[in-house]
Amino acid sequence: MMSMKKIPYGGDYNPEQWAPEVWDEDMRLLKLAGIDIVTLNVFNWASLQRDEETYDFSKLDQIIEKVTKADLNICMGTSTAAHPAWMAKKYPDILRTEWNGMKRKFGGRHNSCPNSPTFQKYSVLLTEKLAQRYKGQKNIVAWHVNNEYGGKCFCETCEKAFRVWLQRKYKTLETLNHEWNTAFWGHTFYEWDEIVIPNALSEEFAENRTMFQGISLDYARFSSDSLLENYKAEYEVIKKYIPEAVITTNLMGTYKPLDYQKWGEYMDFISYDNYPGNEETPAYIAMKHDLMRSLKQGKPFALMEQTPSVSNWLPNNSLKRPGVLRLWSYQAVAHGADTVMYFQMRRSLGACEKYHGAVIDHVGNENTRVFREVRELGEELVQLGDCVTGSRYQAEAAIIFDWDNWWAVEYSAGPNQNLKYLEEFFNYYEAFHKNHVPVDLISCKDDFKKYKVIAAPLLYLIKPGVAQALEEFVQSGGTLISTFFSGYVNENDYVTPGGYPGELRKLLGIWVEEIDSLPVNKFNHFVYKGKEYPAGMLCDLLHLEKARSLAEYGEDFYQGMPVLTCNEFGMGKAYYVAARSDADFYKRFILDLCLETDIKPLIEIDDNTVSEGVEVTVREKEGTRLWFLLNHNSMPVQVKTPVDGINLLTGNEHKKTEILTMKEYAVEIIAESSRKN
Ligand code: GLA
Ligand code: ZN
Repeated sequence: MMSMKKIPYGGDYNPEQWAPEVWDEDMRLLKLAGIDIVTLNVFNWASLQRDEETYDFSKLDQIIEKVTKADLNICMGTSTAAHPAWMAKKYPDILRTEWNGMKRKFGGRHNSCPNSPTFQKYSVLLTEKLAQRYKGQKNIVAWHVNNEYGGKCFCETCEKAFRVWLQRKYKTLETLNHEWNTAFWGHTFYEWDEIVIPNALSEEFAENRTMFQGISLDYARFSSDSLLENYKAEYEVIKKYIPEAVITTNLMGTYKPLDYQKWGEYMDFISYDNYPGNEETPAYIAMKHDLMRSLKQGKPFALMEQTPSVSNWLPNNSLKRPGVLRLWSYQAVAHGADTVMYFQMRRSLGACEKYHGAVIDHVGNENTRVFREVRELGEELVQLGDCVTGSRYQAEAAIIFDWDNWWAVEYSAGPNQNLKYLEEFFNYYEAFHKNHVPVDLISCKDDFKKYKVIAAPLLYLIKPGVAQALEEFVQSGGTLISTFFSGYVNENDYVTPGGYPGELRKLLGIWVEEIDSLPVNKFNHFVYKGKEYPAGMLCDLLHLEKARSLAEYGEDFYQGMPVLTCNEFGMGKAYYVAARSDADFYKRFILDLCLETDIKPLIEIDDNTVSEGVEVTVREKEGTRLWFLLNHNSMPVQVKTPVDGINLLTGNEHKKTEILTMKEYAVEIIAESSRKN
């Protein structure tokens, strides 16, 4: 990735917002804080290009010279995430049209139509000039294309491009008409240009609610692909001039509109921005880290942005408590990050981010709590050196995360609008997390056979080859956990006839005849290993074919029908959870399956010295296992040391099972002493 003698430490720096007199003081403060990398030139297009012909890089040259003299590395932005006002005035095709048909004027950012010829031409041209100009700049250790790609455009240019995309995908209108089932409501298309964008003016009646799932699903894919094409065009032009460049764009974790698994293939390393909302639990934050790490099969990722203290865009922006900045930085590292970076170095003086946290506050000096915390962490990362960088996270279990399914499940009309992909997914993620069992969040294309256990919640839509791959995985000894609302449709949301769960029916050994959708506060119940748990949201009424029942519904007219099943298939087992249950059930059930498949939790959870809210992960490097212990509690806890080893942060030696008192928000990193075989 970047230069790896230590964890790169820094973040977004926007000196173009200040007079050059301020820059010297910035350099003094950044050095004092232990910063060694700055992300430059992220939102700078208008100042680099004042009209079609005139480019002026003189100020950027000065900034680069300044940070280079200060011995800082550079993550080089391309500035294409907000177009100049003159460009919007002269070439309105660059402006986006919203879902409701409203054509936008100039304003905001992330505002260019991805299919606009103007945007395509000038964004690549700017990036080309940057690559040409700075190709010899040795301290540029990474390129940062655009910024947080996102959103959708519904303009006429996009409509035309969508038809081309469809033609490429379906080849003929007959195929398209079949897959979208346009015979329904007499929507048959005879010419490609009869197809219009699905939005408020056509097939959609609310955002995410559609009358034709096929077209809306394809538009979601097309929109993600359109932005990806923008990214790829900039990527390629950088590589043309700097073949050795390492290139990324900053992703946003669980961001629904972009299929990051597809994007990951075109990124040299994954980078992402971690901005947890006030309500997010440590497990929820961890889930996003694990997703980002898994986009490139476990290769370390970059924590590109996080706020040192507050955000400005939440309804209520609370301060990170003393210690939380450090804790969350290490949490990212614990899950596979190899950088710790912030947005931003100096707080703006105007516009909507002036109250967003920064390393240097409006007071302008080092005498702030936040600066002190940033500085302390900076010093610690220097001490840590290269102990962690390049190490790998190891998981024997995985959960399938799939953007097509996220879109399809939430476009579905029926059976239950409360069914949310991420919520259901998180139920499973949290269960592994609470049991201290590491997981990868894999795509449908990843190698299933690397794992002992795979959970596939809400695998509603089955892409070509996926059912077979799952069968092979179980056949050869794997354990699969499937859930309600799985196997119903093909990749275009067209039902697989012959009984649910369609292509998964043989593997699961069941036939789902009906689904009872329950209101939010209503539950059926079942007993699993002597304890009663709720069954809600969707309750499948299913018949056993080859599978056996592990638990049955306790109430209603389907009392006695199976709610939890297991099918022995080849050398493995395929479980089916036919309704939503609660966190206690998932935790218990997942632990049982892990123990059954010989996956050992990193620490034992029934050990009463381990408090709730302590997270444990392991990264491995050259045979040494690095144990991260993170206390997410606002009070001290006692933890039993999991291994013999040296604490990389304190230098102290620890003995296995010794009681370790961890202060509130404390972090320990223990390098395990080599194990005797
Ligand atoms: C995002 C952007 C930054 C900044 C921060 C504020 O992550 O990439 O430019 O706006 O949010 O939280
Ligand atoms: Zn458009």
